[in-house]
Amino acid sequence: MEVVITPHGAVVNEIVAGIVARVLQSRAAPVLGLATGNSPLGVYRQLIERYQRGELSAAHASAVLLDEYVGLSPDHPETYRAFIRREFVDHIDLPISRLFTPDVDAGDLSAACRDYDQLIGEMGGVDVQLLGIGRDGHLGFNEPGSSLASRTRLKTLTRATRDDNARYFDDRHERVPRHVVTQGLGTILEARHLVLIASGPAKASPIARAVEGPVSAMCPASVLQLHPHVTVVVDDEAASQLRLVDYYREAYDNKPSWQDM
Ligand code: PGA
Repeated sequence: MEVVITPHGAVVNEIVAGIVARVLQSRAAPVLGLATGNSPLGVYRQLIERYQRGELSAAHASAVLLDEYVGLSPDHPETYRAFIRREFVDHIDLPISRLFTPDVDAGDLSAACRDYDQLIGEMGGVDVQLLGIGRDGHLGFNEPGSSLASRTRLKTLTRATRDDNARYFDDRHERVPRHVVTQGLGTILEARHLVLIASGPAKASPIARAVEGPVSAMCPASVLQLHPHVTVVVDDEAASQLRLVDYYREAYDNKPSWQDM
């Protein structure tokens, strides 16, 4: 696991946008794993700006989303499909027919979840998966207690997550759907490169638990320790509870020039 610590969020965004841009440039049919929430927004803005400057294209790419609420009407502005279109996909040249999100309106939700995993497999897997981390250590919407081998499935959100996400629902936690479909931790681990983004003091504890704590279903993001290619990009505040800060900085500052992110 590589931990990159930067002075502030703008540098986090620059680094992660660079990782995504390289995937877009180097692969014939790249598959991007997209996340919602606040953490990746600056990365999406960076990528949109690069697209507008003619520096990148996603015309040959596909994208799969990590998770989706269950129970919102399909035209609700806070579905994650609407979110990712509004914040990213509608501003670049990624064909909308190749944006894939869990089919939460399927009559047979379990079958739809299995189909989602199968679809990702048939696409050849995700090249780079962007990830945020919840205050409770969740990854995607895999809340504490999630099986580290889980597949895409229905989950029930914790009260803490519904409180956190109330900001998108007029600050009314009771309006936040109770259920979601999320890629499982086992599904997420199949992506070739996992990039976790976190900024600000509220992320210091979950980042420390995910990166340096025991691998445990009690901190679902700790499952990242089992993956061979993980980049954690954090600002100073989100890094403030890490014990090996000096070592991470030394490793990054002395990275051999041939070694990619
Ligand atoms: P945030 O959410 O990026 O809005 O902080 C992350 C998450 O809940 O996974």
